[in-house]
Order: sequence, then structure tokens, then C-alpha cells
Amino acid sequence: MEQNCHIQFKHVDKFYGENKLIQDLNFCIEKGEFVTLIGSSGSGKTTILKMINGLIPINSGEIFINNKNIANENMIMLRRNIGYAIQGSVLFPHMTVEKNISYVPNLLNKGDKERTRKTVKKWMDIVGLEKDMLSRYPDELSGGQQQRVGIARSLAANPDILLMDEPFGAVDEITRKQLQEEIKRIHNETGITIVFVTHDIREALSLGTKIMILQEGDIVQYDTPEKIKENQQNSYIKDLLGEYIDFE
Ligand SMILES: Nc1ncnc2c1ncn2[C@@H]1O[C@H](COP(=O)(O)OP(=O)(O)O)[C@@H](O)[C@H]1O
Ligand SMILES: [Mg+2]
Repeated sequence: MEQNCHIQFKHVDKFYGENKLIQDLNFCIEKGEFVTLIGSSGSGKTTILKMINGLIPINSGEIFINNKNIANENMIMLRRNIGYAIQGSVLFPHMTVEKNISYVPNLLNKGDKERTRKTVKKWMDIVGLEKDMLSRYPDELSGGQQQRVGIARSLAANPDILLMDEPFGAVDEITRKQLQEEIKRIHNETGITIVFVTHDIREALSLGTKIMILQEGDIVQYDTPEKIKENQQNSYIKDLLGEYIDFE
């Protein structure tokens, strides 16, 4: 059967000078999938995310979103449909929480303040923030709260795809667990397609509907967590998963 891909790479190459990091990369991410991307440091995880939203140009091959080659798309419109959340706070420091979250909805709603207020409230609820935080500035929030505002802001733009690059890397263990629960719930409730980079194997196995494992720019295994726990394609994957397979 023909796959219906939301995000598709066909024969993609990416070179950094002499470093041929990615050669002939092919994959398909179906709509509504939650793909966790793992692999040792330098294996190309961040590069792949940034190729999806066009922040990093490719040397050859094609990238399709909704079956449209992104090379022919307007990058500003494309990125408006793709949320991007990274580690640490990326909030505008001189704007309140409300201003930060409402920035893009305000553009989309063309000044309809009531509608924007509703959008902000909805996303505050979904990421688990109290409304008394609306008037605070980023430096008046904890790291975990800032991360939640960042996620609310990327989701408030109503994207169909959310790219996350080690988004929970800088928060404490308890907050991390809460954020993992929130993102799982957001995924279930919205059906958004998520590509999530992490170096935390437990996080990758528990959040992903599929796990993509990278080794030096190559996909060495791309499958459900169950299948990956059952059978690892090579010793690199066995080492990477280590204790998490033996645990079961
Ligand atoms: N702008 C750049 N110029 C040159 N080399 C780069 C650049 N960005 C990344 N690289 C190299 O490409 C490789 C993959 O980087 P990256 O995608 O950031 O890996 P990961 O996110 O998996 O740690 C690394 O060896 C890195 O040094
Ligand atoms: Mg990275």
C-alpha cells in the first residue's frame, strides 16, 4: 500500500564542507505520528530537524511536507505551520507570558482580541499554567514554567507539525516527568505530528509511537518501541539502549 507521508525525505544529502554527514537519507513520517529521534552526539539529529523546517539547506534530494516539495514553498508560510521548540527558554524577555503566547495568534486573528484571549487561555490550560502567570515576565518564572510557556507559544500558532529539540533537557527530573505527560496528552488531544529529539532513551521509548535511531547520519532502525525492544538491528543500537532492554 502507498504510504501517506506527512513528512518525507527522498535521497537527501547534507554536507558540511568535507564532512558528508548525511548521504541518501530516506524516510516517511505519517500524519499523527510521534517520532522520537535518538543517536549519539553528532549523529545529525538537530540537522535533520532543521532541514524539515528549511532552516538548514540540503545539498541534494527532496523534502516533502504534505506531498509538496518544500523547495517550492514560501518558507515563512511553511514555518508558520511548523512549531519549533528547543532546549531552554526562547521567550521574548521583555514581553509578559500573555504577550509571548499571543504573539502569533494575534497575527492570525488580525487583531480580534477576544479570540486571541481564548486561544491563550486554551493553551495555558493545556500546558498546565495558572492564569495568574499571564502578567509575569520570563525571568519571574521557573525553568519548567518557562518551558511550558515556550510549548504553549509554539502550539498557539496552530501548527500541524511540532519539532522539538531536547526540549526538556534543562529542567529537573520532576518537571521533566510532568512535561512528558503534558506532551503525550497534547499529542493525543490534537493529533499533531511530532518529531522529538532526545538523548534520554527512556523518554524516547515512552513517548514515541515510533523511534528513529541515527548513526553517523544514517537511519539504522526506525520502528515502534515494542519492535525495537524486541530486536535491535546492530550492536550500536544494543549499546545505545543498554539497560533499557535488559530491564524488561
Ligand atoms: N554549521 C555547521 N558547520 C559545520 N559542521 C556542522 C554544522 N552544524 C553541525 N555540524 C556537524 O555535523 C554533525 C552533526 O551535527 P548535529 O546535527 O548538530 O548533531 P546532533 O544534534 O545529533 O548532536 C556534527 O559533527 C557537527 O559538528
Ligand atoms: Mg543536537
